[in-house]
Amino acid sequence: MQTDSSFTFVLFGGTGDLSMRKILPALFEAHRAGGMLADSGKIVAVARHAANRDEYLQWVNEHVKPHVSKDGLDEAAWTSFLERIEFVKIDLGNPEDFVQLRDAIKHLPGIRVFYLATGPSLFVPICHALASVGLNENARIVLEKPLGYDLKSSNAINDAVGEIFAEEQIYRIDHYLGKEPVQNLLALRFGNALFEPLWRREWVESIQITIAEELGVEARGDFYDNTGALRDMVQNHLLQLLSIVAMEPPHSMDSDSVRDEKLRVLRALKPIDPNEIGKVAVRGQYHAGGIRGSTVPGYATEAGVKPDSTTETFVALKVEIENWRWAGVPFFLRTGKRLADRVAEIVVNFRAVPHSALGASALRAGANRLVIRLQPNETIRLYCLAKQPGEGMNLASVHLDLAFDKFFREGQMEAYQRLLLDVIRGRLALFVRRDEQEAAWRWVEPILNEWKVSTKPPKPYAAGTWGPAAASAMLAQHGTCWLEEEN
Ligand code: BG6
Repeated sequence: MQTDSSFTFVLFGGTGDLSMRKILPALFEAHRAGGMLADSGKIVAVARHAANRDEYLQWVNEHVKPHVSKDGLDEAAWTSFLERIEFVKIDLGNPEDFVQLRDAIKHLPGIRVFYLATGPSLFVPICHALASVGLNENARIVLEKPLGYDLKSSNAINDAVGEIFAEEQIYRIDHYLGKEPVQNLLALRFGNALFEPLWRREWVESIQITIAEELGVEARGDFYDNTGALRDMVQNHLLQLLSIVAMEPPHSMDSDSVRDEKLRVLRALKPIDPNEIGKVAVRGQYHAGGIRGSTVPGYATEAGVKPDSTTETFVALKVEIENWRWAGVPFFLRTGKRLADRVAEIVVNFRAVPHSALGASALRAGANRLVIRLQPNETIRLYCLAKQPGEGMNLASVHLDLAFDKFFREGQMEAYQRLLLDVIRGRLALFVRRDEQEAAWRWVEPILNEWKVSTKPPKPYAAGTWGPAAASAMLAQHGTCWLEEEN
């Protein structure tokens, strides 16, 4: 643990949803754990919707407190956490307000972090305003997704921010990279010689990466309807997971070694042929259905959504990587809202034995498989065949289990907590570099373009199911199925 790095953490969008649910709770957990944040470190919330510090703290008490420490709040820690918080009211249209911000933080020690938990349309104006009062010097800036809407708009933001902050000062958040099991995947792959010889086309038949959600669009209908699952989840989280699964061993774990290898994967993705999109991409949209016993409305009737919306709430893709390690191995990616379960996992299907001396049961599915469960219940399971007790050689699938909560007594760190500490410490490895982001946008763009003009609407699926049947048909063409379809 490191407490030496003092900091001033300036939070734009201080009364926004993200600050309420993720950022302030993560900072509180780091504070409560003790020894993670320097005592002198300050949080300076910036917002329009509070008049002064007292009013802001009242908002924090009402809105943030319910999101912290689910197993019982440490009141003393909460009180001392509030002491870290300062408040500055800023109207972005008023440059004078940034002079006030500068004056409010100039005496505070340590590194300055500006966290933009605002809509992307404010990124550039905020950066300009910071630069106009010299606050871009020796500072770090954190940008939340969505960073742009497509390659062009993302480049426009990156160009403008890049004129004010150097790339080493820019931390682009993808919170999936902060999840503990994603870190563990790196440890599994690069800390054990066991998997490396098998982690390639000769031994891997296919890989599935799923991020399924039970939740719908919640209060974000308006945002989501202009975004869709491809931009919201695939361009960032799913492609980042894919690049970690498929990357070559980096030379070291320093920021650029890791990001260079991820970039090579993103650049090796087989470009999407606009004429083939129907074969490699499925888009869906949920209609009303039942989830855990209650009926939920269809997407088109959610608040903020256009009734004739063609925005996708589900995407399944077949992706190929054009390099020696992965040529010919299909990677199936899938994400959706209002699916049957909340689960995020990576499934590596190894090839079956080439000849079975043990009879047909040795060729059965369910073995020769590694499942990395990111959430819930983080586990890594290696499925193998074993002999069933008794007479005869009857085989059954069993698994070797790495359940993190059994091995490590200490609680896991939440993604935002890890990432915020990394920003404060100046560690960039888990943040997305501009070239990675560009490569990801470039790859998804043919699909975005096709879906924009397509006359075929998204395929409907009932809430509480695993998405449109076409997603299963796509795998069937490759002689395989989604993991849950085997059971
Ligand atoms: C966000 C998306 O990036 O990730 C949301 O904008 C989604 O739509 C969320 O719900 C999922 O994150 P997690 O950590 O809950 O799986």
